[in-house]
Amino acid sequence: MAAARDLKATEMGGAESGDDAVELAKRHLIQPWPFAGSVGAEARALIGEGDGIYITDSTGKRLIDGPAGMWCVNVGHRREELAKVMYDQAIALSYNTPWYTMNAPSAELAKRIAGHAPGDLSHVFYTTGGSSAVETALRFMQFYNNVRGRPEKKLILSRGGAYHGSTYLSASLNGRPRDRDWMDGADELVIKLSSPDPFRRPRGMGLTAFTDFLVDQFRDTIARVGAERIGAFVGEPVQASGGVVVPPDGYLKRIREICRDNDILYVSDEVVTAFGRLGHVFASGDVFGIDPDMITFAKGVTSGYFPLGGVIISERLLEELRRSNHPDAMFGHGLTYTSHPVGCAVALKNLDLLEGGVLAHTQAVAPYFQTQLKTLEELPLVGEVRGMGLMGCVECVADRENKNPLQLDKDVGKRIDAHCHELGLLVRPLINMCVMSPPLIITREQIDDMVGILREGISRTMDDLRKEGVWRG
Ligand SMILES: Cc1ncc(COP(=O)(O)O)c(C=O)c1O
Repeated sequence: MAAARDLKATEMGGAESGDDAVELAKRHLIQPWPFAGSVGAEARALIGEGDGIYITDSTGKRLIDGPAGMWCVNVGHRREELAKVMYDQAIALSYNTPWYTMNAPSAELAKRIAGHAPGDLSHVFYTTGGSSAVETALRFMQFYNNVRGRPEKKLILSRGGAYHGSTYLSASLNGRPRDRDWMDGADELVIKLSSPDPFRRPRGMGLTAFTDFLVDQFRDTIARVGAERIGAFVGEPVQASGGVVVPPDGYLKRIREICRDNDILYVSDEVVTAFGRLGHVFASGDVFGIDPDMITFAKGVTSGYFPLGGVIISERLLEELRRSNHPDAMFGHGLTYTSHPVGCAVALKNLDLLEGGVLAHTQAVAPYFQTQLKTLEELPLVGEVRGMGLMGCVECVADRENKNPLQLDKDVGKRIDAHCHELGLLVRPLINMCVMSPPLIITREQIDDMVGILREGISRTMDDLRKEGVWRG
């Protein structure tokens, strides 16, 4: 552990003397996903440094970065190669307008990304992150159907438990509990289907029957609404922020086939699963055997060192547009930072690191990570531990028979997080769940540390709940 030291705001990047970052944040910063009662008046754990799989908070406490930032710091913190390439690119060319000009790193990166993508996904449109990638895919679907003379074919199929972003249209697809309680959305454009969550499948239903149920629901919805009105299905291969929901075997392939049969574009949202999280650059083809019409990506593409995302689009769709009767129809969509040279340069170096060993390492340690995490099912508060690759989730329940989440003043995930923070691990609390997605460079020994802390954090939480008389496990 690093010696405790007080990281003053000035060391954190030059806040006014006398005022530390915590005070400044409370007075001037709006954090993401705030509650009305504390909006603009809240400080969060102040992080000063990162190194490998660790981050250091303002008290000097070193923590394992359990969520790798937000599923993004895939090759780990403090990679000098990445910092240097960003510096070099910014000195060579910090920005160019993508409206009338282009840069070499974006073209080179597009070629390399296409080389890893399944099927005929050949072209990349870059965005600033995941929400704008999903937004771009959906606006492309609308444009594509307008040009093809099918302006009615615009509805979007999404699922419970999904998370696709925080822009208006992408957020309209979100299906996690609480996300939309106080927020508007383009609900008239979206149809929500069941989450493919095997843990929450109807009581008494086997896995095969559950898969059939999901597939039948998908097919019946198309029959009821009409394929001529549905433009796209958007789905994460593994629902990440919904609690690492790994779908049942064969489900994604069957959904893909139904989309193909009904001329519905399949958009695979790989904002989390791409760039190594499941041991491959893309999981759609290499892990799940599907070839979507579009794949969205972000986060791990730069290991979080620069905000970048994108959509990879099928050659077939582009060819159809090029041959359409409307060569003058314009896809009126583009962001100032589309194809940003610094983002693309760092993504190229990040891809070198992934191809040069990080993917192989992930494949090697992932089974150990899953086995060790699974041992937490010994704890009576834990209903299920599940995961894939280097994604994992511990779901807590009041009792295993009914799988009820605990109704508490403070979510059980937050309670576990507080104990783990004390013990040296940052976890991502999600209501009654804790999600883990460490940097991909994590070693077996570090996995042992992580799981050991999590076990102790959950045990302390169980003691608290017993003492408070709110749980009797
Ligand atoms: C699957 C998925 N899609 C889209 C997004 C939105 O990405 P961003 O926050 O970069 O806009 C996220 C963010 O967590 C995500 O997990």
